[in-house]
Amino acid sequence: MTVSMLIDCDPGIDDALALALAAGSTLDLRGITTVGGNVGLDLTTANALALREFLDLGDVPVVPGCSGALVRGPMDAAHVHGAGGLGDAVLPQAVRGAGEGHAADFIISTLQDHPGEITLVATGPLTNIALAVRREPRIVDWVRDFVIMGGSYTRGNHNPAAEFNILTDPEAAAIAFNAGWTVTQIGLDVTLTARLTLPILNRMRDLGRLSSLILPSVQYYSPVTEESGPALHDAVAVAHVIDPTLLTLTPAEVQVETAGHYTTGMTVTDFSSPAPNTLVATHLDVDRFWQLMIDAYGRLAGRLG
Ligand code: BDR
Ligand code: CA
Repeated sequence: MTVSMLIDCDPGIDDALALALAAGSTLDLRGITTVGGNVGLDLTTANALALREFLDLGDVPVVPGCSGALVRGPMDAAHVHGAGGLGDAVLPQAVRGAGEGHAADFIISTLQDHPGEITLVATGPLTNIALAVRREPRIVDWVRDFVIMGGSYTRGNHNPAAEFNILTDPEAAAIAFNAGWTVTQIGLDVTLTARLTLPILNRMRDLGRLSSLILPSVQYYSPVTEESGPALHDAVAVAHVIDPTLLTLTPAEVQVETAGHYTTGMTVTDFSSPAPNTLVATHLDVDRFWQLMIDAYGRLAGRLG
């Protein structure tokens, strides 16, 4: 069965590689909305537009949203993704521009037009999602599934307590987790178990034009060695939509710390709660994940030349 997906993202190296995974899969991509996160909104939007053309995504709408968090000051991860957001990858500048309107409204209208059909995936800060759910609370009933890459129940990455996407806009994350839907949360606990090591990267060579995105971006992201390499966090979220058997999901109540001194942005996870609001990813079949990635990139490379 073809699954329809709307992705809210902040490309970002792993967001870009997640979009490439979607492009090489049978997913029916209904839209790309952008949010400020890894780099500023102008750049995440420019990158999404460039990726739409580079990955041959046709006329899928790209709609920009919020440039910063709901209440907090700006934060970015340019030190991880490079000043432009895609590491050392340089894509041709997009010819076509972004769609009209705001991402939050696009999310609302797309879900409203196809109730029960579309999986909403968020791979950046949850600002657009929170705004959408505040403007139109019924989206929680219209969405097929809501999947995020963010948070963790064991550790942070931006600091010991918090993961970047949640820490960038904890108030938005708190709204999203308590909106009344079941969040599928793919956090660092599982994404960090899949490392793009040299043996895996070697299986991704000879991808023609696609190599000019993959190689310079991942090599910038983190050193690729025999045993270690970058975790492509956001790609795991898209992989889950393509093949829901890759992850083990465990019900839990997740609340976002918004008032901590050292723990703001922490996703406090109670696996014993009688009121779960989340399906938390607790295990990833790493070998099958990489096989899915390699197959999808191979198919896409065949199309792109
Ligand atoms: C998340 O933070 C961003 O830097 C990545 O794109 C990913 O979405 C990982 O913590
Ligand atoms: Ca991201």
